[in-house]
Amino acid sequence: MTDLAQWLAAQSVDSKLASVVASMAAASAEIAGVLRMAPVAGQVGLVGHTNVQGEEQKALDVISNDVVLKHLRENPDVSILVSEELEEPVELGTDGAYMIATDPLDGSSNLDVNVTVGTIFAVLNAADGLLQKGRAQLAAGYAAYGPATSLVLTFGQSVAVFTLDSAGDWILTTDNPRIPEASGEFAINTARERFWDAATKGYVAENVAGEHGAAGKRYNMRWVGSMVADIHRILMRGGIFLYPLDSETVSKGGRLRLLYEANPMAMLVEAAGGDATTGREKILDLQPTAIHQRVPVILGSADEVKRVEDWYAKG
Ligand code: AHG
Ligand code: MN
Ligand code: MN
Repeated sequence: MTDLAQWLAAQSVDSKLASVVASMAAASAEIAGVLRMAPVAGQVGLVGHTNVQGEEQKALDVISNDVVLKHLRENPDVSILVSEELEEPVELGTDGAYMIATDPLDGSSNLDVNVTVGTIFAVLNAADGLLQKGRAQLAAGYAAYGPATSLVLTFGQSVAVFTLDSAGDWILTTDNPRIPEASGEFAINTARERFWDAATKGYVAENVAGEHGAAGKRYNMRWVGSMVADIHRILMRGGIFLYPLDSETVSKGGRLRLLYEANPMAMLVEAAGGDATTGREKILDLQPTAIHQRVPVILGSADEVKRVEDWYAKG
């Protein structure tokens, strides 16, 4: 068996960069423990105010953010934290070479019903400023708090999946998962259909038409409502995830956040052989203009992403 420390030591990356990833893994293991006991500890629920996104903050959003901050404060190689839960970047008072961008708890609307949530993060060079393209990410990962607790990591070449064991160690359980190019599964919130653009409507209509439609095959639909859970399914068995720009989210630029949701997930998906786009541009090539910027997100199996891009190219 290979554990995370052994795996990190075998990667040809700077040991300080590896230590930053290890700090996020340790934070995720601690968050997993908090989540497991949260209903007993009375921690499920709202804190009574909204975050910078104008969204209701849950107690566990705040706790998870604090756990990440605590672990990063213990690592002298991290100097800046950008978090969904913090309006401003936090300077950690070190001259560490690295910056973290994180969604400390993704899918928090699923907390009340004990459905998979996650932690997403990206590691970047602190010296290159807050607003770097996703291509500049040095590492990306997420933890998925499901029936098993998974940690999925990439330094850009391939992806590795670890599982948290009962001793609190991360064990490598799937090395180099590859996202199949073809898939018959799509994930989109269909309750938003009336807001969709023509490309999204066209693509989904073809899928729903199944073997009699232009796609020529039958599709299934899955939507957990936690990006981490939906992307983890796609990473392990293929499929496509769409949170497109629609008429309701257009003024905000989309629903999901570029720095700590779209970019790390796009890096992981590309490293596993999939693709990630807004419909018109590759997510990793977008130039960010603000740390909490939102973007359209379409990612997963390459053939499906291509079909969506073709729909956007039509108009
Ligand atoms: P967060 O809990 O960090 O705000 O993110 C929730 C996101 C993402 O996880 C998920 O894919 C999407 O919101 C779900 O959106 P809908 O509520 O429109 O289904
Ligand atoms: Mn999120
Ligand atoms: Mn969140």
